Amino acid sequence: MRRDLKEVVVVDAVRTAFGKAGEKGIFWKTRADDLVVPLLKALMERNPTITPNMIEDNLWGVTNQVKEQGGTIGRVVSMLADWGYEIPGCSIDRMCAGGLSAIGFGASYIASGMAECLIAGGVEHMGHLPMGFMRDPHPRAVEVMGGLSALNMGMTAENIHTRFPEFTREMADRYAVECQRKADEAIRVGKMKDMIIPVEVQSPDGTLMIADKDQQPRPNTTMEALKDLKTPFKENGNVTAGNASGLNDGACAALLMSETRAAELNIKPLMRWVAAAVAAVDPTIMGIAPVPATQKALKKAGLSMDDMDIIEMNEAFAVQALYCLDRLGLKWDDPRVNKWGGAIAYGHPLAASGPRLVAFLAGLFKENSKAKYGLTTMCVGRGQGYSVVWENLQT
Ligand SMILES: CC(C)(COP(=O)(O)OP(=O)(O)OC[C@H]1O[C@@H](n2cnc3c(N)ncnc32)[C@H](O)[C@@H]1OP(=O)(O)O)[C@@H](O)C(=O)NCCC(=O)NCCS
Repeated sequence: MRRDLKEVVVVDAVRTAFGKAGEKGIFWKTRADDLVVPLLKALMERNPTITPNMIEDNLWGVTNQVKEQGGTIGRVVSMLADWGYEIPGCSIDRMCAGGLSAIGFGASYIASGMAECLIAGGVEHMGHLPMGFMRDPHPRAVEVMGGLSALNMGMTAENIHTRFPEFTREMADRYAVECQRKADEAIRVGKMKDMIIPVEVQSPDGTLMIADKDQQPRPNTTMEALKDLKTPFKENGNVTAGNASGLNDGACAALLMSETRAAELNIKPLMRWVAAAVAAVDPTIMGIAPVPATQKALKKAGLSMDDMDIIEMNEAFAVQALYCLDRLGLKWDDPRVNKWGGAIAYGHPLAASGPRLVAFLAGLFKENSKAKYGLTTMCVGRGQGYSVVWENLQT
C-alpha cells in the first residue's frame, strides 16, 4: 500500500519565563513538571478549537531524567493538567536539543500518519537538577570522546577559542553585548509577551508572585564590564559568565498538527516543517556542530543559506555561535540572526531551548510576512548539531 507523507505545521508555541538556576531563581520553589502544566493548559486556551482529547502524544525533551524530571514527565504532565488518563506521552533526551528532537519526532509522527495533532516541548530545571547530576560516565567515556574537556561544556568552548584563535575574547564579548542589546530592545517593545505564559510561583522569600519575565537578561552589559570577568573554565581563558549562556530553569511547548487537519479545523498555522538534519562532530568542540547539521538540512530542503530570511541559532557560547556563523558564510552581526537576542541574554535551560528557537521564529515570521524560510539550529553536548528549516505560513 502506497501512502504519501503529510505536511506538518506548527499551530502555536508558548513558554514560561526563563529563570536563573539556584536559590535566587524565580523557579527555585517550583518543580519542573509544574512548569510544563501551565503551558499545556495555555495551548488549549489559546486554541479553543483544539481539546485535550485531540492530543495524540505529548513528547517532552528533558536532559536530566531523574527526580522531578524522571518517571516519563511527558506522560505524567497531562494527568497533572487534569486531562484524564487518555493522553500518551514520553520523555526524550538529546541534551540541549532534547526539545528540538521532541518536535522533530513529533513532525515525523505526523508526516508518517501516526498522529494528526500532538504537543512537543522541552523542560529543564537546572537549579534542581544541575548538569551532570547523578550521571555515571562509562570508564572509557573520556577516551572515546577525545579527552576530559568533552564532558565540560565551558571547556569545549575554550577549545574552540584555542583551535580557532581567529575568534577572540573581544569578538565573543562584542557578540554578547550585541545579544543583550537586541534582547533588551525586543523585551521593551513587548515581543516576549505573546509567548510567555505567566506562572504563579512562590518567590524565594515564600510570598506568591507571578513569574512572567525572563530573569537573566542584563540590558546594561558593556564591553568594559565583560572585559574584567573571570574565566571559570580555564585559567587565562576566554569564556566568561558574560559571553556564555547561563544556568536556567524553564519550559517551552509547541502544538503540531498535520496541515490537512489544521485546515479542517479552520486553523491558520504559523509555519511548516520543511526539512531537518542532525550531525555529529568531535565532542571536545561540540559547539561547531550546527555547521554540518545546517548544511545537511539545507541540502535536504534544496535551499541555501541565502534563502534563509530568519535564523534562530542557540548561543550556548558566543565563540561557538561566531564559529558557526562564519563557517556558514554569515557575518557575526547578520541582521537575520537572533533578531530578538539569544541564549546569552535569555538563558539556556537545555532541552527547553530548541522549542524556544521555534517560538521565536514563529514570532519573527509573524512580523516579517515577506520572510519565506527560516532556520532553527543548535549545538549539543557530546558533539551534535540539530537544524530545522521552516516555511513561513503567516504571509
Ligand atoms: C559561566 C558560568 C559558570 C557562570 O556561572 P555563575 O558564576 O553562576 O554566573 P553569574 O551569573 O553568577 O555571573 C558571574 C559573575 O559575572 C557577572 N556577570 C555575568 N554576566 C555579566 C554581564 N553580562 N555583565 C556584567 N557582569 C556579568 C556577574 O555579576 C557575576 O559577578 P559577581 O561574581 O561579582 O557576582 C555558567 O553560567 C555556565 O556554566 N554557563 C554555561 C552553561 C552550559 O554549559 N550550558 C550548556 C551548553 S552546551
